[in-house]
Amino acid sequence: MNYKKIIFLLGMVVFSIAIVNAQDAKYIGAAKCKMCHNKAEKGEQFNKWASSVHAKAMASLKGADATNPKCLKCHSTAAGVDQALVATITVAEGVSCESCHGPGSLYKVATVMKDQKASMAKGLIMPDEKVCKKCHNEESPNYKGFNYKEYVAKIAHDDPTTK
Ligand code: HEC
Ligand code: HEC
Ligand code: HEC
Ligand code: HEC
Repeated sequence: MNYKKIIFLLGMVVFSIAIVNAQDAKYIGAAKCKMCHNKAEKGEQFNKWASSVHAKAMASLKGADATNPKCLKCHSTAAGVDQALVATITVAEGVSCESCHGPGSLYKVATVMKDQKASMAKGLIMPDEKVCKKCHNEESPNYKGFNYKEYVAKIAHDDPTTK
């Protein structure tokens, strides 16, 4: 390989890393959201999630299933996404905030978060039925059907001050 070719290829590598850094939000895990979303008067979203079935989804995978990618893709946020986007989230935290709200590394900043439009431009998702059906579907060996209204009530973590 000649010198010019090497310089060109190095340039391409630097360029593509820059694109990844600028655009790809990464998964940071529920502990990071907890810092701002666990006040009782604002609905303690972290505690509500932590006591939900989603936070315990890994406990349902016994033995070899706990490392089976076919099960992990729905039972763990961290295991089910592009591994290049995994920052501080862990497989053990199960179905975490970012499976429904999108990867948080870019929107987690307070100045961005307090503006819903700005947050959504940085990857925040305000989930609807479609988001749930990525996992609540017939591919699940234990599928029990899915009624959005009923199911969303079971995982409610509203902020009483925003209603
Ligand atoms: C530095 C503090 C901070 C962190 C960290 C943070 N948030 Fe927020 N978030 C806020 C603030 C402030 C608001 C605006 C509403 C409010 O005052 O509670 C907000 C609003 C939201 C909303 C509601 C948007 C709306 O307009 O109704 C969602 C959903 C949300 N955050 C999810 C998350 C998730 C998921 C994480 C972790 C990946 C996270 N946040 C991390 C401070 C934060
Ligand atoms: C990343 C995959 C994933 C997404 C997205 C997801 N879920 Fe789940 N959900 C699961 C898994 C896995 C379980 C089973 C947890 C366990 O018991 O191991 C579950 C269980 C539940 C349960 C308990 C059901 C029961 O049998 O009692 C409710 C309620 C629920 N989810 C609601 C929702 C709603 C509402 C949404 C969308 C806003 C949603 N889920 C999005 C994976 C997901
Ligand atoms: C397409 C997503 C998906 C896949 C793939 C998946 N699961 Fe699940 N799993 C779910 C959801 C969603 C639930 C909650 C049940 C419901 O409400 O439909 C669940 C529930 C469970 C439960 C609790 C059953 C109960 O309700 O008591 C076990 C155990 C379980 N899954 C094991 C597994 C195993 C083992 C695998 C891999 C062989 C697997 N799952 C693959 C989505 C999935
Ligand atoms: C299974 C999917 C799911 C998970 C997991 C989840 N959320 Fe949510 N979240 C929702 C849905 C659905 C809404 C309601 C959206 C709406 O009202 O349109 C919501 C609403 C919110 C709101 C806005 C509340 C309000 O009333 O303004 C905040 C803040 C929030 N979630 C934070 C979190 C945090 C932090 C975590 C993790 C600790 C988390 N969520 C985990 C699905 C989820």
